[in-house]
Formats: sequence, C-alpha cells, structure tokens
Amino acid sequence: MKEVIKIEGGHRLNGTIRVSGAKNATVALIPASVLATEPVKLVGIPNISDVGSLKELLEYLDVDVRSDNEDEIYIDPSHMTNKILDIEAVSRLRASYYFMGALLGKYKEVKIRMPGGCNLGPRPINLHLKGFEALGAVIEDNGEYIHMKADRLVGARINLDFASVGATINIIMAAAYAEGRTIIENAAREPEIIDVITLLNKMGARIRGAGTSTVTIDGVDKLTGCFHEIIPDRIEAGTFMILAAAMADHVRLENVIPYHVESLMSKLKEAGVYIDSKIDYVDIYRSPELKPVDIKTSPYPGFATDLQSPFMSLLTQAKGESHIIETIYPERFKLGGQLNKMGANIIVTPPKATIIGGQMLKGAEVTATDLRCGAGLVVAGLLADGITTIDDIYHIDRGYENLDLKLKNIGARIWREKVEE
Ligand code: EPU
Repeated sequence: MKEVIKIEGGHRLNGTIRVSGAKNATVALIPASVLATEPVKLVGIPNISDVGSLKELLEYLDVDVRSDNEDEIYIDPSHMTNKILDIEAVSRLRASYYFMGALLGKYKEVKIRMPGGCNLGPRPINLHLKGFEALGAVIEDNGEYIHMKADRLVGARINLDFASVGATINIIMAAAYAEGRTIIENAAREPEIIDVITLLNKMGARIRGAGTSTVTIDGVDKLTGCFHEIIPDRIEAGTFMILAAAMADHVRLENVIPYHVESLMSKLKEAGVYIDSKIDYVDIYRSPELKPVDIKTSPYPGFATDLQSPFMSLLTQAKGESHIIETIYPERFKLGGQLNKMGANIIVTPPKATIIGGQMLKGAEVTATDLRCGAGLVVAGLLADGITTIDDIYHIDRGYENLDLKLKNIGARIWREKVEE
C-alpha cells in the first residue's frame, strides 16, 4: 500500500495560515550546530521528513539530540565521533552535503557517500569541492564516496563561478575554524545563508558580509553553544501566496518576512492579484481575472526557482500567453507534462516554458516528480474541476509541514488515502 493526496477542487479558501520555520535554513543550521563543542538549541524547526533524516545522521555521529517541544531541537555534540557517513539517510536528502563542510571544519577529515535529494537533474558539487581544496583539503572522489582530509585548513580567497547556496554555506562552515582569513567572492545572498551566519556568529565565529556577495570569515579556535530561532520559510510563504491567489477569497499569512518574497509579490501584483503586506503578515485576495506574465528565475533576490513550479500552475488560469525562463534547474519543467494531463496547454522548450492559459483544469492522476512540483500539483488540484490524485507525496512531506492539514483548516477539500501500489 502507498499513500496519495486527493483534492476535490473548486472550493474557496478563507482564513489564516501560520508559516513554519525555513526548511532550507534548517537543513543547514542542524549540521552547522555540530561545529560547536557545547549544546545548541534551535527553535522554529519545521516538522518535515528531511529533519527526521538529519536527526538520524546526528545520532549516528553520537550527537545527543532531543526535542522537548515539537518545533525545537537540542543538539549536544560534546561526545560526537567522526565516522564514515555511509548510512542510508545520507542518500535521502541533498542537504546531507552540509556535513562535508561541518566535519571537515571540525575534524579536518570527512568521508561521506554521495548525497541524494530531489530529482532535479545533474546537481554537481564542484564549487563546494573547489572551496574545500582552496582551504587545503585533499579530495578523493570515486563516484560513490567523497573522502577529504587536511593537515591544516588555511584561509583563502575563493571566487565562486556561480553564486551557489550550498557551496557558500559549506565553505563558510569549513572555514570557521581555519587559520586566518577566508574571503568568498560571488557568494550567494539568500536569507537562509544570513541565518546560518547569524547562528555561527552567536556560537563565536567571526563572519562578516552576510547577505552580500563578499563573505569574510576569520577563523577562531572555539565555537560555543547558543540559542537560535530559525527564520520563516519564504518558499512555504510564497507557495501559500500562490495558492491564495488561485483560490482564496481572503487568506492571511502569519510569520512572514515580506521583504524575502518581494520578487514573487511584484509578479503576483503584475498578474492582478491584490496583496496587502504588513511587517510580519500578508493578506492575499484572489483576482477575478488573472493577467499573463513572464518570469525568469535567478538567485536571490531574483524570482526563486522553487516558486516557479506553483507559479506555473497559477499561470494556467491567466488568459493569454505567459513565459517562464528557468535558469537554475530546467528539470523543474517536468511539472508541465503533469499539468497537461489535467488539461493545461504548456509547451516546454528548455530553458523556456510557454503557458497558454485560460482553460479550466480537470482532476487527474498525477505524480509529484520533486518537492516543488508537488506544490504545483496541489495548486492545480485546488483549481481543478473534480478530483486530483497526487502520487509520490513523500517529496511533499520532505519539505512542507502539514501542507494538507494547513489547507484543510482554511476550507480546502484535501485528504490522504492508502491505495494499492
Ligand atoms: N551548481 C554547480 N556546482 C556546484 C553547486 C551548484 O554547478 O558545486 C549549480 C547547480 O547545478 C544549479 C545552480 O548552481 O544549477 C544553483 O545551485 P545551488 O548550489 O545554489 O543550489 P543548492 O544549494 O543545491 C538550494 C536549495 C534548493 C534551491 C536552490 C536554489 C537547499 C538544501 N536546497 O540548492 O532547494 O532550489 O538552492 O535556490 O537549500 C528545494 O527546496 O526544493 C530545493 C531544491
């Protein structure tokens, strides 16, 4: 038996949703915490399966992990051991690669099997490795395992060819204990990176330039324990904004930093959606008539690739032609094929997709090919006439906390069912 999500479309959404802590910050903050020699407490942890996988990895490394409340995690690395990371949990999530930077930084040696994660086509880590090498690591990569070792880690000037989120965070972690100064040029500027730097600085690191494209790390000898609250998830917030634009009379999102979703809000407004944003909440009202718009994904503060998928589903309702150019993960266009099964008219010619909008979607059996594709299918299912069945929902559970429950609470007809494989 397997579980699917079913949605009966056409019901209006009304009410308030509280956004959870940021998944892509959490999956970096948990590995970063083991750089300390004392307990770290993180609050605002989302209840998603990626966090469960990271807890398994911590326990495997003899880190004491406790959760006194659902959204808190207490990480005590005082008795941690550096072991070969070859357990299955490594392959379950992409972010297990953050243990490379954390363990290399802490022990000057790490051996890990290749990380897994969403099926988004080739996801190289050459920039991460280039950074580790610049700091002094010798790398053996046999395609199955990566083994890195350094006698000393010494600060260096590293220029990233692309402003990679993962590489920026990984190099920062590896450099936290390195001798002297590391400068990362063309660093990524995502809010999740600022959150990781904030945590590390609370632990005693000396990192400057958070949120800019030049990050400077002065190595220290000791990192201590601390308390840290995770920022709200801008991608979850953006997903709900799009869902509300599709089907809400009025939805209020709480625990949002509107500044983090500026590029999405400006595109929604351009499409005719009425949005009213205050300091930490946003009100969204469905537009009676959506206008077609063009988007191009790019690193923060540009339009997030993760929001491109749910936005594509929304654009099926805008009369006329919209275009999406995906510059980061072209595999995200697999959603187009799933939406066409529901009656959409989407022509995919990577890196571009053309959405000829205005048709009523019809319920169908569809598959979440990755996390954000899953979110796109939920938007489509809420809009569609009839019942939509979404398969492979483990992708959705990896990154959205109680997505179905949160939507049910504001009037969606959405439920889980066990069906034959
Ligand atoms: N890239 C390289 N070499 C590298 C690293 C990246 O060529 O060494 C390329 C990638 O192939 C891609 C681009 O650079 O084309 C961007 O990759 P980046 O490293 O910025 O992404 P990431 O760290 O692997 C994170 C998020 C993704 C999100 C991207 C872009 C996490 C765990 N993942 O991935 O989130 O799409 O940044 O913002 O933080 C998701 O949440 O569904 C998700 C996939």
